[in-house]
Amino acid sequence: MSNAMWGGRYASGPAAVMEDINVSIDFDQRLYRQDIAGSKAHAAMLRAQRIVSAADEAAIQKGLDQVLAEIEGGTFTFKRNLEDIHMNVEARLAEIIGAPAGRLHTARSRNDQVATDFKLWVRDAADGLDAQLKDLQRALAEKALAEAATVMPGFTHLQVAQPTTFGHHLMAYVEMVGRDRGRLQDARRRLNESPLGAAALCGTSFPIDRQATAEALGFDRPTANSLDSVADRDFVMETLAAATIAAVHLSRLAEEIVIWCSSPFSFVRLSDAFSTGSSIMPQKRNPDAAELVRAKVGRVLGGFTAIVVVLKGLPLTYQKDMQEDKEPTMDALASLSLAIAAAAGMVRDMTANAAVMKKAAGQGYSTATDLADWCVRVLDIPFRDSHHIAAKCVGIASAKGVPLHKLDLTDLQSVDKRITEDVFSVLSVGRSVASRVSYGGTAPKNVRAQARRWLKKLAD
Ligand code: ARG
Repeated sequence: MSNAMWGGRYASGPAAVMEDINVSIDFDQRLYRQDIAGSKAHAAMLRAQRIVSAADEAAIQKGLDQVLAEIEGGTFTFKRNLEDIHMNVEARLAEIIGAPAGRLHTARSRNDQVATDFKLWVRDAADGLDAQLKDLQRALAEKALAEAATVMPGFTHLQVAQPTTFGHHLMAYVEMVGRDRGRLQDARRRLNESPLGAAALCGTSFPIDRQATAEALGFDRPTANSLDSVADRDFVMETLAAATIAAVHLSRLAEEIVIWCSSPFSFVRLSDAFSTGSSIMPQKRNPDAAELVRAKVGRVLGGFTAIVVVLKGLPLTYQKDMQEDKEPTMDALASLSLAIAAAAGMVRDMTANAAVMKKAAGQGYSTATDLADWCVRVLDIPFRDSHHIAAKCVGIASAKGVPLHKLDLTDLQSVDKRITEDVFSVLSVGRSVASRVSYGGTAPKNVRAQARRWLKKLAD
């Protein structure tokens, strides 16, 4: 049987494989809410512009409400021979209300319809991700406030570099996630123009009101070029690019959680709620959730890569290739959503092992910079010379097998006789972190101020 919607000139139906490759209802049925909202806005506009009668429009609205109720109630049968969500909805509408259903598709096409539906879907998804990322920021900032003075090693090259605090470290992620949200919000702003009314590609001769449908659907304005309207998928690329960067950030946090939980580190403990056991090694507590958050970026980047490759070199305007935009996008954004939820859960769940962190912070002569800075500040020695003095002191401490703050004053004075007792005021890790009061620095009072500033911002 040929297609009821467009098969007027077709004697037979598609080959089985043609149906298999052409059909999108298996995944685009998830656009039903957006599709029906778009149709309702379009129908209302057609009536206001006197393109369809009030009676027909009323029937269409009522019928669409019923279709929505049937889908949400699980009684709707999606049909593969109707290809996609647009034709499934319209065909069911025709069954319910009869002839007036045929007027709904006046002055539109599936090309502007699918662009509208998918923009609305991506917009909803981006809003959901933003709310989740905000929750993750809150979890991080709350933990940071509690751990503002918990000394831990700060690393460069994964070598102990300078003492920092666990709170300061967590606040670094609050900043990163803040930028991730900014990118998603930015993409949303550019996305928020309505393609509805571009019709197949060249607009329409009917006196439609695109401003009205744009407003009804929460868009800022209609798109200005009909060809661009149906050909544009950069709203997908841009959202997935932003999602990829967010997923990369989550993978860095996840990797750190894996490291912190490993027994040589033991900086952090996850409760049973976020740990899994091994079926062979009874002692194991594995941070599986962190590992999976670390891995999810593969699917997010995979989705981004897929859509970019589909669009590369694609001539204007709509091409069926673009139907391949949905599955990767839906999978990528669902993966990111799950990863954010798991990350927020782990951050709230984890407890810091302050004693172990503090001990590790003192290893590797992490206050050597503080010693050099002291020589500059108190003795007015140029930093490059102070650096040499501190390095020599590290050499002595290393030979004696003691941390810097356990050296005798005479040891320090053997390097430079101007060094006084006062130097010990900066050599312990606690003193070191407390002294780093420069804006954005690691001092606990800075960390508390930053955490409070963010928590206030995140409260509304
Ligand atoms: N299922 C199609 C898609 O996702 C809808 C648009 C089809 N338009 C067309 N003229 N065949 O892209």
